Amino acid sequence: MTVDLAVVPVAGRGTRLLPLTKSQPKEMLPVGRKPVVQYVVEELARCGIGRLIFVTGPGKTAIENHFDFDAELVAHLRETGKEELLAELAFEGQPVEYFYTRQRRQLGLGHAVLCAQPVVDNQPFVVALGDSIIGLHAESQVVRSMIDQFERARADAVIAFEEVPREDVTHYGIAKPRRQTGDVFELDDLVEKPDVAEAPSTLAVAARYVFSPAIFECLKRTPPGKGEEIQLTDAIRLLIQQGGKVLGAVLPPGQRRFDIGNFESYFQAFVEFALADPDDGLALRRHLERLLAPDGSRPCC
Ligand code: G1P
Repeated sequence: MTVDLAVVPVAGRGTRLLPLTKSQPKEMLPVGRKPVVQYVVEELARCGIGRLIFVTGPGKTAIENHFDFDAELVAHLRETGKEELLAELAFEGQPVEYFYTRQRRQLGLGHAVLCAQPVVDNQPFVVALGDSIIGLHAESQVVRSMIDQFERARADAVIAFEEVPREDVTHYGIAKPRRQTGDVFELDDLVEKPDVAEAPSTLAVAARYVFSPAIFECLKRTPPGKGEEIQLTDAIRLLIQQGGKVLGAVLPPGQRRFDIGNFESYFQAFVEFALADPDDGLALRRHLERLLAPDGSRPCC
């Protein structure tokens, strides 16, 4: 049986995006026409995920509401002659079953994944971070190919990586590859947010993972690490140390990660998605070209 279960941690407070995230989840921020988490769910559904567990926390009910069927809204659109907008709600009918559990204490990403254990139990599963989109339009098949890799290699974990500039390694889990053959490599070690001088490479964990349930025992043995949080990266490290087969898969070109965790990358993601919008992208492009034109050609208002 293939992997059809995903855990999507969405409990983080999003403090790097305050005040935007004071009373709304960062996973519900708009990127182009949709909230971030809708892209994540659509991507997973396209990759064959049929059961999805959100690990939520305080202030995250908007996510649950977003994936509910909204009969009242449907009726309202029909009554007011706006049937053409019903297509915008098609995502409600995706063949995905939703489960929700809560991380009752903010103890880190590793702890959030461990909160899903009672639901996941003894099955392999995907972890997809709810604040990162892979590729434009949620068309990425990265998770599908990671699942195939996981099954073919009988691995204990397959993790997505992307190259980042050396000065950025301090923001990510960084790989120490054993040997690299093409875009898939075995991991020798993994370090969470290392200093630039100590980073073993510039390959950064890119928000998508496939795990065997063995990760749960490692998470239980993981003490608080960076930022005093229980880090998923440290549990993967234990998995490697106990002889687990852990593979890295580099994101293919055109399948970049869009990070909604800080303002710089959020702004970039929004602009890229808006520019790619089939209806309004061209008008935005023209507007930006005018805004960015040398002073002489800029319109006065
Ligand atoms: C988390 C992980 C980190 C990973 C990053 C992006 O960090 O701990 O290893 O590189 O997501 O996938 P966060 O962005 O939550 O600080």
